[in-house]
Amino acid sequence: MSRTPFVGGNFKCTGTASSLTSLVKGFNDSITGYPEVEVVIAPGTEYLGLVKAVAHRNIGISAQNCVPKSGAYTGEMSAEQVKDMGLPYVILGHSERRHVFRETDAEIAAKVKAALAQKLCVIFCVGEKLDEREANKTQEVCFHQMKAALTTIAPADWKNIVIAYEPVWAIGTGKVASPEQAQEATALIRSWLSDNINASVASSTRILYGGSVNAKNCADLWARRDIDGFLVGGASTKPEFSEIVKACVKPKAKL
Ligand code: PGA
Repeated sequence: MSRTPFVGGNFKCTGTASSLTSLVKGFNDSITGYPEVEVVIAPGTEYLGLVKAVAHRNIGISAQNCVPKSGAYTGEMSAEQVKDMGLPYVILGHSERRHVFRETDAEIAAKVKAALAQKLCVIFCVGEKLDEREANKTQEVCFHQMKAALTTIAPADWKNIVIAYEPVWAIGTGKVASPEQAQEATALIRSWLSDNINASVASSTRILYGGSVNAKNCADLWARRDIDGFLVGGASTKPEFSEIVKACVKPKAKL
């Protein structure tokens, strides 16, 4: 089955009103001519309204996180509020949330559930740390992270899940996974979906690669069969993000 390519840009905690306005205006010119790719950008919470107002309607806007419930949670934004702001997407389970802010599997699972209940599209991140890869635990770690959050999803909600395989050792390090490593892990994730959910979810769910993707390395990664696009950090805050989007327009080679 053909899956619509998906490219997400995670600006993380970077930018100012002025720098993000000019960045996104540049994307309006360079990216919106590629309707065959679903393009989503995720600015920091404080700039969501600004970026939403500036971005062309063909560029989706995502929150970088949310909590399950509205209420007395200082500094947080709830799934309900993400929805209310007219934002269709939220990134959940990002490694910086897991490892810097110590979010647990149970907390992430509750966030996924709440976001899906609001009909948000969840960009769900999984990936192993360097010591886990070196101990041959990549599959174990990714499967564990998926099992914790994805096994109870209602069949109708799977269309609102995109999975990003993001090895922690490749994020923000300039050390990209090789196309073979990225293909191997994304294929494993697809096989988990087939074994634990069903064949149709396995063939329809978009699986992204993330970790030091840039304009130079994206074409070789894109060529791999199970990589349906990218979640991009650093390079999404530069004009080269449009080159990554354009790379995903090319028909896939069967590698
Ligand atoms: P990076 O970040 O592209 O800067 O490595 C990727 C991510 O955190 O999604």
